[in-house]
This record gives sequence, structure tokens and C-alpha cells, in this order.
Amino acid sequence: MNKSLTLRRPDDWHLHLRDGAMLNAVAPHSADFGRAIIMPNLVPPVVTGDQARAYRDRIMAALPDGAPLRPLMTLYLTETTEAADLVAAHADGLIAAVKLYPAGATTNSASGVKDFDKVRPVLAAMAEAGVPLCVHGEVTDAEVDIFDREAVFIDRVLDPVRRATPGLRVVMEHITTEDGVAYVRQNAADGAMGGTITTHHLVINRNAILAGGFRPHYYCLPVAKREKHRLALREAAMSGPGPFFLGTDSAPHTDSAKLQPCGCAGCFTAPNTMAILAQVFDEDGKLDQLEAFTSLNGPAFYGLAPNEDSVTMTRHDAPVETYPTTIVAGDETVTVFDPGFPLYWQMESA
Ligand code: NCD
Ligand code: ZN
Repeated sequence: MNKSLTLRRPDDWHLHLRDGAMLNAVAPHSADFGRAIIMPNLVPPVVTGDQARAYRDRIMAALPDGAPLRPLMTLYLTETTEAADLVAAHADGLIAAVKLYPAGATTNSASGVKDFDKVRPVLAAMAEAGVPLCVHGEVTDAEVDIFDREAVFIDRVLDPVRRATPGLRVVMEHITTEDGVAYVRQNAADGAMGGTITTHHLVINRNAILAGGFRPHYYCLPVAKREKHRLALREAAMSGPGPFFLGTDSAPHTDSAKLQPCGCAGCFTAPNTMAILAQVFDEDGKLDQLEAFTSLNGPAFYGLAPNEDSVTMTRHDAPVETYPTTIVAGDETVTVFDPGFPLYWQMESA
């Protein structure tokens, strides 16, 4: 018999939709989410309220008619961000959060922050106005091992910034370590912190990228860590009501950009994310906690109501064959994240 589960429509609290031909190709694959926090790391980045408004219009135009998805925009924090523009954009409901990329940490982060002292006044204004800060939590120092960059970021940057800016609400984005899980948990009281977890970090550890041949489609940032960290993320994601929520970090790149001597970081998980999540929660006997992770904890952090409508996840007896393995964007292909197991689950509007 088919197993099924009805839950509030899920949201994606960390999504890359890109622009132009790529936006048109990928937006339909996230269209059945209720809301998504849209990452601002375009080239050039989305740094002003006006740019966020124009980007939101391009996203709306790329979505199928009647799609449930409502994009929640973010601004890209730079050392020259104007606090007044940012606070006004939030007060107008134009942006839901601000994104902090340490300069050089990941794809299109060159305009990010090098000197955290320079953004202290903006962070103070955000704390005052209740604008959440979404943080890419990795140090960029060349001497720090890439597998340690998240844990070192917590001690060297995140904790000092939070202490220096009382009241600043922070989302530690795409956490990949038990250290990230512990830090969010310890600091989550009164909604002071949240943590997003991606779909792919619940499925792969670093062996998927490096053992038995190099697999660039599993390379993303923060890079997947060793198995004990994946297990900590699974436990956090499945822990029910609390500070952890889904941010897929679905980050499409063309295959030609990924498959080269210096390939891009990012896993494109939008087309099969909910199927993968239902399967991993089911595997661990935690299907009853899926709704908290995908549909309740995120809105609670952002001070929003859960989506009013629902979706039904159904487990079929045979693998669902309709998930694409690649999609076409302009003249290029984009490979969809392969979880390494057949997918039996499918999401339908209830
Ligand atoms: C993201 C991208 O491609 O924009 N890449 C990734 O590996 N996750 C940027 C990011 O979120 O780090
Ligand atoms: Zn991202």
C-alpha cells in the first residue's frame, strides 16, 4: 500500500535562482514551495532595495502562472551598504533578510565583507530594526583547512560579531558540522538564532566527493564533511520544533562551469528535494518531524505564519521515474543532484 503524509506547504529558506536563461530554467523547479529566501549573489550582487525589487519582478516573470512560490528577497551586505536603505527595504516588506558573505568564501562573494568592523553600524541598525542576518559561516583564510572553516568561523567571527551586536538575529546558513549544530542550539533561545540545513548535506559526506573518483556534482560550499557531521545534521533536521529548518541551497551551475579544472561549487537539488527529504526522514523513522523542518520552524524564526495550504507526499511502490537527471538552461545543461538511491516519493498539492 502507498504510504502518504500531508503537511503544510514547505518553504525553502536558502535558494539560488540566478538570472537570465538560468533563472527561467530553474525557477519552475522551486515553484511548488510556498516561500523561498532568495540569495543575492548575482553578478553584480543585489545590494540595494531597488535592485531587490527589480530582481523579484524577474523571478515572478520566470515562474509558471499561478505558482505558489513567493520570493522573499535579501540584500547582499557589503562594506558600503547604507543602513538607511536596508532598513527602509525591510520596513517596506521588500526584503526579509540580509546576507553576509565573507569576501571570497564562495561563488560570487568577491564583494563580501573583509573587515567586520566596517559593517558594525549596519549590523547594529539591523538589530534595532529586527532584520535577520543570514550568514555564510566559513572563514576564508588560506591557512585554515577547508574542512575546518566552519568551526573556525564560529569562534573567530560569528560569536564575536553576535556578542558585539546584542539583539542581532542570525541564521547560520547551510550548517555542515556538529559544531554548527551545537552553536545554533546553544544560542537559539528567544529566536536569537536559527540554522538552515540543506538536503544534500543530509545525504552525502565527503567520501561522496572524493572516494573512488572525483565527483564534481557533489562539490558545494561549505563542503560536505566527515560522516559524524552528516549524522549530527540528520539528528538536528529531524529533531522537531526548534531552530533548524530547510534551506536547500539549491545552487545550479552549468555542467561546463562545473566540469573544468577549477569547477564551481554548488549542488542543484530543487527538482527532487522534497522526494529526497521524505525518503531520508522515512529511513530514520522520523516522517512525523518532516513538517517541522520544511514548513513550521522556518516561518516561526522569520515571524511569519506557516503556509495555509498543504501538500501530500506519497510513497509509491516503484521508483518515480519523472525526476530529471539534467535540465537545459539556454544552450547548456545543468545536472540535478543524484542522491545515489532511487526516489519513491512524490509531492502533490493537497
Ligand atoms: C553557492 C552558489 O553557487 O551560489 N554555492 C554553493 O556551493 N553553495 C553559494 C553558496 O551558498 O555558498
Ligand atoms: Zn547558497
